[in-house]
Parts: sequence; structure tokens; C-alpha cells
Amino acid sequence: LAQDVAAGKKEFIICRACHQIGPNAQNAIGPVLNGVVGRKAGSYPGYNYSEANKKSGITWNEETLQKYLANPQKVVPGTKMIFPGIKDPAKVNDVIAYLKQFKPD
Ligand code: HEM
Repeated sequence: LAQDVAAGKKEFIICRACHQIGPNAQNAIGPVLNGVVGRKAGSYPGYNYSEANKKSGITWNEETLQKYLANPQKVVPGTKMIFPGIKDPAKVNDVIAYLKQFKPD
């Protein structure tokens, strides 16, 4: 599946309601997403995660993010990410392409 970073950047506008990314990003309603691709769930410093997220045992990679971003509550029951998900897998794939641009802090 081809990945379109520019399309992912546009799609990420809906994530920005709760998440910051890039230089000087701070935890907000949701955790900072710098370096999230490759990160263990619930591990960004200083963010107050749900027990559900912390105990999920998930490592965020392209495969787990593809499922999670389509339906967060299904993949992590009890997560406090109250977001219905993005139903179009191509759009999710583009968001992942965008996320991959941002290395860990
Ligand atoms: C957690 C991505 C939209 C609120 C997360 C995590 C990821 C993520 C990967 C897990 C992070 C970790 O374990 O360190 C995204 C993306 C979004 C999006 C790519 C857009 C497509 C939103 C929106 C909200 C939100 C719109 C608020 C309405 C949260 C919260 C958490 C979280 C509160 C913490 C979950 C918990 O501790 O259970 N998000 N998110 N997210 N997100 Fe989002």
C-alpha cells in the first residue's frame, strides 16, 4: 500500500485536537506522538495513561497502528482515547506515513 505523507499530514488535523507532534510538542489531552512508531504503548514520559493502555503489551508499529487507528476501543478496550477511528485503511496508512517522520525526542 503506497503511503502519502502529505495526505497523512492533512488527516492528522483531526488528531491535533488531542495530540502534539514535532519540535517542542507537549503532552496534552493525549501523549506526544514523536517517535510513536516503534514505541511501547504507554511509555511517553510524563503522560498519565490509562491502565488499559499501559497493560496492553502493544508495541506501536505499522501493523498495530493500522488496527488501533481504525478502532481504538476494539484494540485497547478501556482506553481513554475516545475517538471512533478512521475507517478508510488508506487514510490510516497515510497517517502512519506522517507519524514516521517524527523521531523520538
Ligand atoms: C493515545 C494516535 C486521535 C486522545 C494514542 C496513542 C496513539 C494515538 C498511537 C497511543 C500512544 C502511546 O501509547 O504512547 C492518534 C492518532 C489520532 C488520534 C494518529 C488521529 C488519527 C485522538 C483524538 C483524541 C485522542 C482525536 C481525543 C479525542 C488520546 C488519548 C490517548 C491517546 C487520551 C491516551 C490513551 C490511554 O492512555 O488510554 N493516540 N490519536 N487521540 N490518544 Fe490518540
